[in-house]
Amino acid sequence: MKGLILSGGTGSRLRPLTHTSAKQLIPVANKPVLFYAIEALVEAGVTDIGLVVGETRKDIQAAAGDGARWGARLTYIPQSTPLGLAHAVGVAREFLAGEPFIVYLGDNLVSEGVKNLVSRFEQTAPDALILLSRVDEPQRFGVAELRDGKVVRLVEKPKVPASDLALVGVYLFRSRIFEAIEVIEPSWRNELEITDAIQKLVDWGGHVEPHMLTGWWKDTGKPEDILEANRLVLETLESSVAGTIDGCSQVTGRAVIETGATITGSVIRGPVIIGAGAVIEDSYVGPFTSIGPGARIVGTEIEYSVVMAGSTLTSIPGRIDRSLIGRDAVIGETAGLPRAFRFVLGDNCRAEIGWKGGRR
Ligand code: TTP
Repeated sequence: MKGLILSGGTGSRLRPLTHTSAKQLIPVANKPVLFYAIEALVEAGVTDIGLVVGETRKDIQAAAGDGARWGARLTYIPQSTPLGLAHAVGVAREFLAGEPFIVYLGDNLVSEGVKNLVSRFEQTAPDALILLSRVDEPQRFGVAELRDGKVVRLVEKPKVPASDLALVGVYLFRSRIFEAIEVIEPSWRNELEITDAIQKLVDWGGHVEPHMLTGWWKDTGKPEDILEANRLVLETLESSVAGTIDGCSQVTGRAVIETGATITGSVIRGPVIIGAGAVIEDSYVGPFTSIGPGARIVGTEIEYSVVMAGSTLTSIPGRIDRSLIGRDAVIGETAGLPRAFRFVLGDNCRAEIGWKGGRR
């Protein structure tokens, strides 16, 4: 079986981070979300993996390389325009060369991995195997309608959902899916939807097998999703300390402190990860926070946040909470008067000031 990870797309909901990097490289617990997908496939014995890539190909290729570090072989497959998931699968037809394959959305995380799915697909040999999960807002997803345990209808982002069963971003197919992709029409949002292609298989009397997910699943398409994915993954990490912690600091709970990180006069309350070479000084780093490599947190309180590599946070009054801070960002005190708020923010940034009264 081959693997296909969809790593193109626009990532518009993650701007400004996606102005400068691929959304699949956004770190979750200090590791690009894409790497979790590669690891899940390799764990299931799938090592011949195609990566569908778009404009951000260079960055993705620089990060993931040839796959040797996972014992995998990665082949980069260009998609000239992000015309939808079915289109992205379609461009990989030659690479897949008639073999059955597993598609994994490069910005998704599935806690239980895909090993069981791969063996089930091999045993029952359906035309397609889809993964379903109960969700609160089915209208945001592809939704499946089942009857007697069989898939009868699939609709992408329905206005009036027939169920709360969303399609999770992992699908297993045989080459019959390409016949379906050839005949479907673009949707109202002008994309070739994978949901419509699978519906075609159902219409043709094909066997589309549903599998209910038991663990968690996260699509990291929006900033809040990344914070939530970060929380879920941090809860699974084993504590380890390779950096240095001075006698005045206090570290409690699950904490990964990577090589060269230094913690002085600070309180760290896990689950957290502090990246290699990061500096934490006179600060509080609270639960569900990832501090990227080389970041500096000085005189600051922060929790439930992701701070990426090389960023500096100094002397922030009040606590930073639920924040997503990109690479090499600087947040600090105003030097001199007037003591105003002063911002240099890129396109599509969002800053919220969380205290009343205006005066400190
Ligand atoms: P989406 O999150 O559905 O789309 P997007 O990346 O364009 O994001 P946004 O809606 O915020 O603009 O994509 C899911 C995954 O599939 C993601 O890893 C990107 C990838 N993808 C492709 O590779 N090609 C495509 O044509 C599309 C639409 C997505």
